[in-house]
Amino acid sequence: MDIRFQNASGKGGGLPWAAECAIIFVFEQESPSDVAPALWEAAPWLEISPGLRDFRAKKEERALLYGHPENALSRVLLCGLGSKDTFTLNLFRDSVAKAVQLCRDKGFATIGVPVENLDRLEGASVGKSIVDRPALIREAVAAALLSLHRIDEWRSKKDEDAPADPRWLALLFTGKEPSDVGDAAHRAARQGEAEAGGVLYARYLSNGPANYITPAVLAEEAQKLAKAYGFACTVFDKEQIEAKGMGALFAVGRGSAQGPRFIVLEHCPKGKEQEKPLVVVGKGITFDTGGISLKPAAKMHEMKGDMGGAAAVLGFFQALGSFADAGELPRVVGLVPTAENMPGGNATRPGDVVTTLSGKTVEILNTDAEGRLILCDALTYAQQEYAPTAIIDLATLTGACVVALGDDGAGLFTEDRALRGAIMDGAEAVGDLVWPLPLWDAYDANLKSDVADFANMGPREGAAIMAALFLRRFIEKGTRWAHLDIAGPGYVVKSAPLLPISGGTGMGVRLLCRCLRDERVIG
Ligand code: BES
Ligand code: MN
Ligand code: ZN
Repeated sequence: MDIRFQNASGKGGGLPWAAECAIIFVFEQESPSDVAPALWEAAPWLEISPGLRDFRAKKEERALLYGHPENALSRVLLCGLGSKDTFTLNLFRDSVAKAVQLCRDKGFATIGVPVENLDRLEGASVGKSIVDRPALIREAVAAALLSLHRIDEWRSKKDEDAPADPRWLALLFTGKEPSDVGDAAHRAARQGEAEAGGVLYARYLSNGPANYITPAVLAEEAQKLAKAYGFACTVFDKEQIEAKGMGALFAVGRGSAQGPRFIVLEHCPKGKEQEKPLVVVGKGITFDTGGISLKPAAKMHEMKGDMGGAAAVLGFFQALGSFADAGELPRVVGLVPTAENMPGGNATRPGDVVTTLSGKTVEILNTDAEGRLILCDALTYAQQEYAPTAIIDLATLTGACVVALGDDGAGLFTEDRALRGAIMDGAEAVGDLVWPLPLWDAYDANLKSDVADFANMGPREGAAIMAALFLRRFIEKGTRWAHLDIAGPGYVVKSAPLLPISGGTGMGVRLLCRCLRDERVIG
C-alpha cells in the first residue's frame, strides 16, 4: 500500500479530496462534524447521513456511512476512541489498524485520512510520551502498513479469496500546495513507512522456516541490504570464525551442516568515518534444538524464531536505508552472529571448554544456553574494532524472561541511566513493552566453573539475570551497553491488530529507529 498526501486545491470550498473511503477518529461527547470540518465540506452528504444518528464514538465502535456514489468522497468510516481520558497511543494504533483492515476487507482500493483530524488528537492524554502531529502521522502510517502484514511466501499459490491490499492511503490536508502540510508531516509519513517496512522484513525473516533461513541466507540478506542502500558489509564464514578466535560462536555452530556466519553491516555516511558508531547486535540462532542438551519436542518448531534479534538488526538497517535523511544520521554498525544449534557427531558437548574472542575461557555446562555464547564474541568484536558510543544487543535469550515478564514484555538490562531512559521512552513511543531487570553483582558468582574461567549458566532461579550477567563479563569498563531479552515478544503465538498473523513480530526494529534519533544514545 502506497502512502501519499492529497491536498485540497479547489477554490470556493469545492474540495477535490477523492478516495473510496475516508477514515476519521472521534472521541465520545464529540460531534463528528467538529473533528474534521474540511471533510464535512468535501462530503456534504454527511450532514444528512442517517448513520450518524446513533454513533456514540465508544471504544471499538465503528460506523460506515454512505453518500451518493458519484461523490468524490462517498464513504466515511467513523472510528470511536471512547473517552478522551482513557486515550493512549496504543489505542490509536489499534484503531487505525482495524479501520484499514475493514477497508481492505470491503475491497476499498483507496483510503483517505484527514490530517486535521489527527491534529485534534495532539495533546490528548497519552501517558508520558509527547504526542505531536509528526508522531501521530508516523504512528498512523506505521499502524496502517503493519495491519496488512501477511505471510504467503511459503505457500505454493496465493490464497485466491484473500482480499487485495488497498492501493494507497492518502493523508488529506487543506491548502493549495503540497508543501502546505509542512515538511515535518512529509518526513513523519516517510519515517512511518520506512519503519514499518523494516518491521515487515524482520517478520518475514523470523517466520521463515529454518530450512530456508539459514545463517548463510541471513548473510546474503545482509549483503542485499548493503547493495541496495550503500552499506559496507563483511561476512566471516566458519573457517574465518575459527581462525579469528571466535571460539564460542564456533562451538555453537559446529554441530550443524549449515555453517555459522559472523555478519558486519555498517552505515557510515560520508564524512563520518571518524565518528564513534552506535553498535547494535542481534542473536541469530536460525534454529535452536538445544544441541546435545536437547529441548523437548513440544513447541520446538517455534525455535525457528530464535533469530528475532538478528531479524531486528537487519530490519533496522532496512528501515535506516530507506530513511530520506539517512545521510544525516549517525554512524551505525550492526553485528549478527548467526548459527544453527544442532546435536550431532561434531557438536559441542556439555562440559566442553572453549576460548572466546576475549581470551576468557568458558565451560559450556548446557549447550542450550547458546545465545550468550554467540553474543559474547560479538560484544568483544564490537569493543575491539570500534569505540562504540553505545552497544545495544537484542536476543531471544531466556525462557526465564518470559516467565518473569510474560509473552509480550522484553527485559531491559543496563547500568547506564541515559541509555535506559532512551530505550524505555522509545519503547513507549512505538508501543513495545520493555521493563528493566537488574544486573546484581551478588548473583555474578553463580557463574563460577570448576575448570574454566566461568560457566555459561548458573542456577534456574533468576536465569534471565544470569544470562545478562554472563554477557556483562565481556563488557569493558566505560563501555555503555544495554541488553534486551526479547524471548517473549520476539515471537508470539497470538494475533493483534498490528500483528494479524502470529509468529515473528519484528520487535526491536522501531525501537532501534527511535534510539538512533535520541541524543542519550548517540551522544
Ligand atoms: N532460545 C532459548 C530461549 C527462548 C525460550 C526463547 C523460549 C524463546 C522462547 C535459549 O537459547 C535457551 O534455550 N535458553 C535456556 C537457557 C538455560 C539452558 C540456561 C532457557 O531459557 O531455558
Ligand atoms: Mn537454547
Ligand atoms: Zn536460543
